[in-house]
Amino acid sequence: MASLTIRKLDDAIRDALRLRAARSGRSVEDEVRVILREAAEGSPSAVSATALRTLPGLAAPSSRRDVGLARVTLIIGGGIAAYKALDLIRRLKERQIDVRCVLTKAAQHFVTPLAASALSHERCYTDLFDPGSEFDAGHIRLARNGDLIVVAPATADLMAKMAHGTADDLASAILLAAGVPILLAPAMNPLMWNNAATKRNVATLQRDGIVMIGPNAGEMAEAGEAGMGRMAEPLEIAQAAERLLRPPRPEPLAGKRMLITAGPTHEPIDPVRYIANRSSGKQGFAIAAAAHAAGADVTLISGPVELGDPAGVRTIHVESARDMLRHVEATLPVDIAIFAAAVADWRVAHEGEQKLKKTATGMPPLQLVENPDILATISHRKEGRPPLVIGFAAETEHLIDNARTKLARKGCDWIVANDVSPSTGVMGGDRNTVHLLIRHGGNIDVDSWPVMTKEEVATELIAHVAKAVVTEALGQPS
Ligand code: CTP
Repeated sequence: MASLTIRKLDDAIRDALRLRAARSGRSVEDEVRVILREAAEGSPSAVSATALRTLPGLAAPSSRRDVGLARVTLIIGGGIAAYKALDLIRRLKERQIDVRCVLTKAAQHFVTPLAASALSHERCYTDLFDPGSEFDAGHIRLARNGDLIVVAPATADLMAKMAHGTADDLASAILLAAGVPILLAPAMNPLMWNNAATKRNVATLQRDGIVMIGPNAGEMAEAGEAGMGRMAEPLEIAQAAERLLRPPRPEPLAGKRMLITAGPTHEPIDPVRYIANRSSGKQGFAIAAAAHAAGADVTLISGPVELGDPAGVRTIHVESARDMLRHVEATLPVDIAIFAAAVADWRVAHEGEQKLKKTATGMPPLQLVENPDILATISHRKEGRPPLVIGFAAETEHLIDNARTKLARKGCDWIVANDVSPSTGVMGGDRNTVHLLIRHGGNIDVDSWPVMTKEEVATELIAHVAKAVVTEALGQPS
């Protein structure tokens, strides 16, 4: 096996390597291993500094997020609760958070670096004076890179070191050099937690802006002892980390009432048969979820679909167009109404009370009558018309022209036109290509969007709605 001395490389290559290693949170040695592996696997890897700069880890500071949505440095302290830190790694990773572990000497009496590495899929760090990572000031890198440092369990000793600025091992050196928020999950015997020195240290750390989760009250590892000092559960710690990493999003539609229709309708022929269409409801459900995420108070009125109700959305299940209209009218007043349902245009005039039977005289005559047009009914209301009414136009030809005509005929404010020809796979599929037609007085603006997932279309549509709410200050529902 050949060996390679990194210090003997060209300055430019060495600098680029260090930078790439720092950005991907690996030691330079590990980074070289990754590059060699990529090269062996035939990826266009790096032999020059220029090539190195074009590799994923160097392309842009945010490229690391291609791997996980955020990165946590998890410092595992030396206490019996350290075994729970292994579960915490899992909980963080299932939230798309990359985890890099640091174990104190004491922690290694309870869990092994191998277990932490295996679960985090990353190298685990234990020593301040590790030649592999320290020649490029590894502890500073560990302290500065990433988005959050979590200490679990945070022992009385580690907290005392932090409060006094001691840095005599890798964990305390990282904490002293930290350039990102720190979350502590204290765990200790109740006597230690209640000790005056610990109380002083906790107060100091809180004044310094350190965030704490727990400890909780409960049984201790020591037989027969109970009290305040149990480490918070891994799930609680992961949720606290998530809150710090992803502060609540702005809610531009907070306080707005929204109504959304979705799915097909079923128009009964007899007790066992009905007229239906291929709508899956996915687009309307995605819009309801996006509207809820934007803070709106959402009522979703859906025809029969095979989808779970979106979390946080009041969902009313209906069968026919007439049921849907009844529930729509009962939901008014609202600020914004979006009609994404593929409502059946016709129903049978006389629904069979019993199952229609085959007869010798041929097929039963099915006389059709037109269903109420829910969108047009609501758009043309004199009283209680929502300030913003949005329809959909499902077309198989002359998409924009038909959508323009529909916008005028239905009397809504915006229309989302989509091509539902079988070749597009829109009906029942996961993607959609839409055009948003917006009426401005006598003019209609057409905004054509690229092919997107139905969730992306929903997010984009709700972003437009939020903008309209802010800029046009839609009136309150009457
Ligand atoms: N719509 C409605 N009630 C109906 C029919 C349609 O609320 N009875 C709404 C749909 O939810 C959609 C818009 O009207 O927002 C257009 O629906 P679409 O099926 O594209 O058009 P139709 O009105 O059925 O007209 P056509 O069949 O001629 O295309």
